[in-house]
Amino acid sequence: MSTYPNLRMRRTRATAWSRAMLRETVLTPADLIWPLFVTEGSDVEDPVGSLPGVSRWSVDGIVARAREAVSLGIPCVALFPNTPSALRNDTGTEAHNPQNLMCRAISAIKDAVGDDLGVLTDVALDPYTSHGQDGLLDDNGYVANDATVDALVGQALVQAAAGADIVAPSDMMDGRIGVIREALEDQGHHNVQIMAYAAKYASAFYGPFRDAVGSSGLLKGDKKTYQMDPANGREALREVELDIEEGADSVMVKPGLPYLDIVRRVHEAFEVPVYAYQVSGEYAMIEAAVAAGAGEREALVLETLMSFKRAGASGVLTYHAPLAARLLNG
Ligand code: PBG
Repeated sequence: MSTYPNLRMRRTRATAWSRAMLRETVLTPADLIWPLFVTEGSDVEDPVGSLPGVSRWSVDGIVARAREAVSLGIPCVALFPNTPSALRNDTGTEAHNPQNLMCRAISAIKDAVGDDLGVLTDVALDPYTSHGQDGLLDDNGYVANDATVDALVGQALVQAAAGADIVAPSDMMDGRIGVIREALEDQGHHNVQIMAYAAKYASAFYGPFRDAVGSSGLLKGDKKTYQMDPANGREALREVELDIEEGADSVMVKPGLPYLDIVRRVHEAFEVPVYAYQVSGEYAMIEAAVAAGAGEREALVLETLMSFKRAGASGVLTYHAPLAARLLNG
């Protein structure tokens, strides 16, 4: 008489067809948002040293990446500028120049692919300030909230006028979502969405991004007076609640993998789509693991991306988007 179980969890795992049929979570290219770095010039591909496989592209190259995204079934790209240092200043005025690098990239993409691709734009001053902080500094070097919000409104409006489909404030100032929403409505940008970087943490995982946009050498100090303390989870729910009340169409948790618990809690507590940003340091960590022979790139990428979907994310911003889409398309 066997004492072995009648209930065998391995029964449904025995064959590929059964595993496919019972799979709870699906990952598709439509879940991916591809972050791209824009730089000045033409025909420029400038590799980012700390992000192997990622480059800054001049606007023509960005348009080529946009076409690639469309052909891969990636629905949206996220743009970040590497502003020439001569155009950076204390108050980040280049951010609301309607002819800035971002705006030229946005309209070039829209001219090329129209509504076949969404363009998401970062709203924050750090790629434009000479001090690398996301906002304006007061006399004590503190990032001044309300003055910064005024600047962000100007930035969001030039991006929307250039054709941005989703503006994504990543600055963590208080009250910016409501004011930006109101300004967009006033200017007739009724269908421009807001994706709020609602729960953005003061993280050690942003280093390579700051290299890519050229702000790492400039930044003094840290961003702890506005980005969240990694120790806090309940506070993230308050941040998300406020951004929804102020008019966010979707929210983001950032970074990704170390904050999957936050993704899950936001997904369970609110009815808005929640996105995760698998940030530059996470990308670099996977690439370093691959380079060290500690894992296989394709499998690591798909497993981490699946984990975001399983946690409840509607999608993921990831520098591995084109690779993942290629794998998913077979
Ligand atoms: C700017 C911004 C940052 C990232 C996205 N928008 C950096 C920061 O807050 O210092 C990081 C993205 C990444 O690391 O991939 N506000």
